Amino acid sequence: MMPDANVSMSQSSTHKRRRGSFRNRIAFYLLAIGSACGLGNIWRFPYVVGENGGGAFLLVYIFLSLTIGLSVLIAELIMGRTNEASLLKITRKVSVQNKKSFFWFGRLSLFISLVILAYYSVISGWVLHFLTQFLVGLFRSDRMHYLGNISMNVLNENGLLQFALASVHLLICGFIVLRGVTERFEKILTAVLPLFGILVFLILTRSLSLPSSPEVLRFLFYPDFSKLNLTSLGHAMGHVLFTLSLGMGVLVTFGSYFKEDEHLPTLGVRVTLVDTIISIVAVLMIFPIAFSISNKPLTDPSLLFEALPQLFLKIEYGEYFGLAFFLCLWVAALNASIALLETLISNLSDRFQQANRFSAAWLVILVTLFLTVFPAFSGTLFKNIKLLNQSLIENLDSVLINYLLPISVLGMIIIFFKSINEIDYKEKFVNESSESSQMLVKNWIWVLKWLAPFLIILGLILQFFSVIKNSFLK
Ligand code: PHE
Repeated sequence: MMPDANVSMSQSSTHKRRRGSFRNRIAFYLLAIGSACGLGNIWRFPYVVGENGGGAFLLVYIFLSLTIGLSVLIAELIMGRTNEASLLKITRKVSVQNKKSFFWFGRLSLFISLVILAYYSVISGWVLHFLTQFLVGLFRSDRMHYLGNISMNVLNENGLLQFALASVHLLICGFIVLRGVTERFEKILTAVLPLFGILVFLILTRSLSLPSSPEVLRFLFYPDFSKLNLTSLGHAMGHVLFTLSLGMGVLVTFGSYFKEDEHLPTLGVRVTLVDTIISIVAVLMIFPIAFSISNKPLTDPSLLFEALPQLFLKIEYGEYFGLAFFLCLWVAALNASIALLETLISNLSDRFQQANRFSAAWLVILVTLFLTVFPAFSGTLFKNIKLLNQSLIENLDSVLINYLLPISVLGMIIIFFKSINEIDYKEKFVNESSESSQMLVKNWIWVLKWLAPFLIILGLILQFFSVIKNSFLK
């Protein structure tokens, strides 16, 4: 969620007025963390870890998150702050200065944001479905029986329902953004996020007390490196970039709102740490249930939705926990979707001065609504469209997150070095009061210039080999 969206994006105001700044520090941190934490941590990460064999993958993920994820996150924030503009405008400036076209980087990342917004809305619709089921359950006399029967099957068999839920989610985002009630929503968010933290902690302790938890801990913390394969690096990289909202210009826009006195690398470290911890907590919360109560495979994208309600049915006041959990998760998803929507609107308004915010927003919403049709009907209308034995929605997820996002981040790194000079970015990174930042600046630049491109390209090549191996060399 971007602060002061109306102020910052109004067309006629001066540059200074256009870029608002955060009001108070805690809200500011919660918003920054809120923009990273969402369905990526709670819904996607557990089944990606399950798919990739557990502990060894987790180690690769943590390593990539703390090196590449963190470095790119800081770079995006600094790029937004220094240029005081969103990505499309920055790529335009760089293209004009270098007499070369760097536009495609900006366009690619906005295209990815658009498709991810559509995909994310469909998954948010799933959350909305479980939320309403728990709500309806509270008013029924056969409450426990009713809640015991909720499952993903209803959604899997009903593309129209998925589309309708995604549309409701998206229209609520549009309403919040266009009605200028973002500030009120921010307030709700800063109250909901700590509540969500407490809730997750309570569920975690209950989940870890299940008999399967020693097995889960072994699976996660005794890494078996033989489980890594050609796709592991690419999958870990893709997820790191997705969960930290990188490669889409979200943090560039975010960075453009910051006050001068905020030390962005410190913020980056905190956001990355919290995001990584939340992802690990999500796995620890879901796996014991999956191992002992539900018989869902760990690799299934519906893992969260199938496993958690099973636990809620077993605990006292579980129906209220269920309701509160899905409500908080939906608010977090709403926040992430609003961040994407605002990035898209802000880019269009920054780039095309004549575009008015209202029409830009409607254009984005309508195109996104159209795009949601593909993931929403993936299991019904489009169920015969299969590639490499995977459904449309699985392919969409993989192409976007494991391939396009890393490519977009490569572009982002190039734009970063082209749009800011060395003195500027070093000055923004180094904090006079902290000696460590003076030492770390070299490592940061090394990761951006060498490690990130190397590992991103290696991950892409290895995944490509795996596709060739699976399709031709069977
Ligand atoms: N980082 C968010 C999550 O993990 C997803 C997201 C991506 C949000 C891009 C905004 C922009 O859920």
